[in-house]
Amino acid sequence: MATGQQVPAREINPDALNAMLGRAVQDMGAALQAPLILIGDKLGLYRAMGDGVPVTPTELAKKTGTAERYVREWLNANAAGQLVQYDTEKGTYFMTPEQALVLALDDTPVHLPGFYHVLASLMKDEEKLTEIYRTGKGMGWHEHEKGLFEGTERFFRPTYLANLVSNWIPALEGMEAKLKAGARVADIGCGHGASTLLMAKSYPNSKFFGFDYHLPSIEKAREKAEAAGVSDRVTFEVAAAKDFPGKDYDLVAFFDCLHDMGDPVGAAGHVRTTLAPGGTWMIVEPFANDDTAANHNPIGRIFYSASATVCVPCSLAQEVGLGLGAQAGPARLEKVVRGGGFAHFRKAAETPFNMVFEARG
Ligand SMILES: C[S@@+](CC[C@H](N)C(=O)[O-])C[C@H]1O[C@@H](n2cnc3c(N)ncnc32)[C@H](O)[C@@H]1O
Repeated sequence: MATGQQVPAREINPDALNAMLGRAVQDMGAALQAPLILIGDKLGLYRAMGDGVPVTPTELAKKTGTAERYVREWLNANAAGQLVQYDTEKGTYFMTPEQALVLALDDTPVHLPGFYHVLASLMKDEEKLTEIYRTGKGMGWHEHEKGLFEGTERFFRPTYLANLVSNWIPALEGMEAKLKAGARVADIGCGHGASTLLMAKSYPNSKFFGFDYHLPSIEKAREKAEAAGVSDRVTFEVAAAKDFPGKDYDLVAFFDCLHDMGDPVGAAGHVRTTLAPGGTWMIVEPFANDDTAANHNPIGRIFYSASATVCVPCSLAQEVGLGLGAQAGPARLEKVVRGGGFAHFRKAAETPFNMVFEARG
């Protein structure tokens, strides 16, 4: 409502008001703590506590080459947020094994700091985002502050580590055997190639082709392939989902990107023409229900918020601009896939955060 307008008086329910303010206290603490989590991740403060050995602020500051007065305040904020423990008698701070798994140790399936790099980049983009809410224009992936790209990789990779090779690939009909024997795989919208590289390491007889329309992401993916020693079986090229090159892929994979596309139906149609006979399209999407109200829960809150700042703007910046959103739900996704000419569509796997679909010819 514009300032200066009269608000009609409405009765206030004090219990509802208190409940809302109670939730707000939790949310405000979590939001204000976000920069501290980022600082702790960047300066190695969590990593230095990952072994569970109790430290004083002075010891932690010394270990990490940081300033004691700030570190003391940082530790107390973390203790108040239950991210580290405080030993009242000894005046020391330590991490439980669970706190270390989530915050201190790299490459665990529950590693969370990557999320905070995404958050920081969105805060830096806030003015641009406010403007597109006024104009209705799109905002492409490439138009975001660069922290989004690294943050997205770090945020998603733990989930792929935990699920991709152990659960999702085996859930696709006949795919694990094909990949072990030697298959051709295209990973579309691959970003920094977290999924591509994980598959390439797990299935050394197969060839992997990663594509993304965003050149800086492709360059980063190439560096990572080199560092992982899998450049002999992985290539990364710039290409959009509707016209990526190559044929006879046994598997085409879309990880958390179909809903970001302006023309997902067009992409589906193109995928179909690139598959080998009997080939599979694997679509990994954020978990969502078909019923909007059923997504009004803590996980839906995260996904709708990402959708409102990244996914819908990305789609609206591209041709057609369907704007599926990250909470489209299985029924709308099925419509998109069938619209591309696929006869077979089923949900092959799900976790609380993701749904994995299998589409075939
Ligand atoms: C949320 S990120 C997911 C990245 C990666 N798949 C992962 O799981 O880490 C979405 C990706 O889709 C890419 N993308 C968006 N629209 C695209 C299009 N039309 N063609 C190819 N890539 C696209 C973006 O550049 C971005 O890298």
